[in-house]
Parts: sequence; structure tokens; C-alpha cells
Amino acid sequence: MTTIQVKASRSYEVKIGRGLLSSLGTEAAGLIQGRKAAIVSDSNVAPLYLEKVTASLEGAGFRTCSFVFPAGEASKNGQTYLNLLEFLAENQVTRSDTLVALGGGVVGDLTGFAAATFLRGVAFIQLPTTLLAAVDASVGGKTAIDLKNGKNLAGAFYQPRLVLCDLDTLDTLPDDIFADGCAEVIKYGMIGDPALLDMLGKTHFRADPEEVVARCIAMKRDLVEEDEFDTGARQLLNLGHTIGHGIEACSGYGISHGKAVAVGMTIITRAAMAEGMCPEEALPNLQSLLNTYGLPDSTDYSAADLYEKTLSDKKRTGGTISLVVPTAWGKSVLHKVPVEDLLHWIEKGL
Ligand code: GLY
Repeated sequence: MTTIQVKASRSYEVKIGRGLLSSLGTEAAGLIQGRKAAIVSDSNVAPLYLEKVTASLEGAGFRTCSFVFPAGEASKNGQTYLNLLEFLAENQVTRSDTLVALGGGVVGDLTGFAAATFLRGVAFIQLPTTLLAAVDASVGGKTAIDLKNGKNLAGAFYQPRLVLCDLDTLDTLPDDIFADGCAEVIKYGMIGDPALLDMLGKTHFRADPEEVVARCIAMKRDLVEEDEFDTGARQLLNLGHTIGHGIEACSGYGISHGKAVAVGMTIITRAAMAEGMCPEEALPNLQSLLNTYGLPDSTDYSAADLYEKTLSDKKRTGGTISLVVPTAWGKSVLHKVPVEDLLHWIEKGL
């Protein structure tokens, strides 16, 4: 097992290893004052792990209740959020109790936002069950729900008390969902870890993911500790995301986040090459790695459509937008450009 300590506005441990769901109860008992745990999960994950998580908590003396909602991004909305708050109130969850997010990014984001706001803040524990949630969404305290106008438009920075990343849960993921997480893993390599990129190129890490997952979380920890509230260095984590969000939006969210980020990384790398900011070998290397992990590297959407949808993304500040631009194989920088220039970047990258 690997343990990574995150020292943000709240300090907490991220534990990465096998069989960790069974130790949740004892881990939580040492951290949480109250003796009630509200488990939040979705219709895909609950049938697999809810019983185990409940037994672990109850074995350690917690009383539990569970809120299960239909799986999918469409549930990450104001209605599910309010239903969850009402459920917590009905079950008399108090400020000293805890919420437990059992699932992928949607479950973690929604539960975290409920934890941040219910009774003005209660503890929550992240149990990520997808690779994407393990390496990204469960760590760093970004919580949110979607609004009609876009993803993650209402949220809060609110750190969990503990993240238990049980690698056994990744074994049962369909290949396609595992591939979505691989896009985020490749992103970490592209931001600043060429050795990770080499490692990914040599052996597929699915059978033995601990080292790769821990390496990604350690990089995220460093960025979160430097810039918890996302005004500087943390924005490097948006590599491929700015244009990726445009691709997701153009597809009516039919294209998954991971696939869109993969294409977004390809577009920005090609544009960086055209701008003379990135050496030529980075693009074929990236495309080969993406394809090895079952990810796409191109889109049929036009530059104009991508530009329009990308502009509605919240990461724009006034008249400028911060692009994350690869400058070498395994290195990226933040590059502020006027919003109008984004169209040319997309055109050069397609
Ligand atoms: N998912 C990007 C971040 O946590 O900043």
C-alpha cells in the first residue's frame, strides 16, 4: 500500500492499495467524531460494493444509511443534490457525522458538494471506484454539480477527510471506462513526468496499477499544495481539458470526458508544434500512447464549433484564456492568450 499525505487547507491521507474497502470502518473510526455514516453511491457501483462498505462501517460501530441515484452525468444536477440534502436531513445526519462517496467522479463531486454545504459543512470520505476518479477527481477538493448551461458550474473547494483508493475496484471496470482514466494518466506524464510516459509506453499498467496511480496522485498533491484554489499552477491539470470540454459539449456529452481530453491534448500539442513551442516528435509519441490505451486522437468537429463551445467553459478569465501548452515530451506550461486567439490555436491543432 502507498500512502500520500495532502497538506491543503485540511490535511488528509490518500491510501492506494488492494482490499482497502474492508478497512474503511477502522480508518473512519479514527477520524470521525460522530457514529453515523451516510453512504452515497450510484446504480452501477452500489450493487458491487455497497454491502461491503456498509459491513465495514457497521463493524466499526457506525450506523449507516445509503442514498443511491441513477448512474451517469445526467444525475449530477440540482435535483439530485437537493434530494441528497433532504435525505441527510431526514436521516438526522449531524455536523459530527460523515458522508461517504462510493463511486466515480459524478458520485464524488456530488457528495463533496453536499458535504460542503449540508449544515455548512460535514466531513466526507472519498472511495473512488474508477481510474479517473482515483487519479484526479477524488483528490484536491474540487466538488460540483452541473447546471443547464454547463458542467461543474456550481461547486466549492472542499477537501475530504480521507481518500481510500481500493485498486480491486479497478479490476471490474469495462475497458472503455478504464481507458477514460488512462487519458488523465497520460495527461500527468505530459504535464511534467517524462519517466511516467516511458513507463506507460513499455508496459500496460492495468494488471498492476499501484505505482502509476500513486505517481499521478503525488503530482496532483504537489499542484494542490502549491495552488489549492486553482489560480495558478493547478491549472496545469487542465491540459487537453479546455478544448476537450468543447468536444464534450459539441457531442451533447455523448463523447466521454477521457476521450475528449485525449483529443484535446492532441489538438493543443499539434498547435504548439505549429507555434514553434514544442518539438515535432511529441505529437507522434502522444498519438501512439493514446492509441495504445484505446483512446482517440482526432475529431470531426469544426474549429468554429469547438471555439464556440469552448468559450462557454468557465475557465476563461475576462478577455484572456490560460492554455496549457506542451513544450517538450513530458513538460507543459501555462500560456495566457487573448480569447480571440483561441480560434487560431484550434485551427492549427486540428
Ligand atoms: N481536475 C482538475 C483539478 O482538480 O484541478
